[in-house]
Amino acid sequence: MKNGLKVFCSLVFVFTAGMGTSVADGHFDNAIKARKAVMALYAWNLGQLGAMAKGDIEYNAEAAQIAAENIKIMATMNMGSAWPQGSDSTALPGKTRAKVEAWSTYPESAEINKKLAAAAVAMSDVAGDGVDAVRANIGAIGGACKDCHTKFREAE
Ligand code: HEC
Repeated sequence: MKNGLKVFCSLVFVFTAGMGTSVADGHFDNAIKARKAVMALYAWNLGQLGAMAKGDIEYNAEAAQIAAENIKIMATMNMGSAWPQGSDSTALPGKTRAKVEAWSTYPESAEINKKLAAAAVAMSDVAGDGVDAVRANIGAIGGACKDCHTKFREAE
């Protein structure tokens, strides 16, 4: 009886310890998924504007305006919850490309995000005014993306 209880207790311990680990990992998995999703939406919307700027697709004022607004909305959302401490590529190699420096040099990454937000606001003010306005403003957006990736994203 005594032994049986001991075995039962250690089984409970192993089970809950295992569960604790998987819950923690699962939490990071979803956070990483969420921030990658935001990035994918950035790329999709910026891609629309880029294709118009290059002439690969015909300029369309409404579509340009929508893409610019989408980037603005995302750049001004507070998605800090998707960047928990410890969810960096040093701790979780292969799961994320976010460098630990994004946390250790904070608020540098947030400053770049502010630049992106300002560039996105500038773009959304004029994106419907013609392809030249898109061309004039796209560099500042792409530059902010690139700046952050150069500093805080692992190469593939
Ligand atoms: C403040 C920093 C920052 C800004 C600004 C930023 N990114 Fe990122 N981006 C990252 C980091 C860090 C990752 C790696 C995320 C991860 O793997 O967890 C990333 C990943 C990505 C990815 C890969 C997503 C995946 O599925 O692995 C794409 C695409 C991307 N960014 C596009 C963009 C575009 C387009 C912009 C600008 C409109 C942008 N990013 C702005 C930091 C930034």
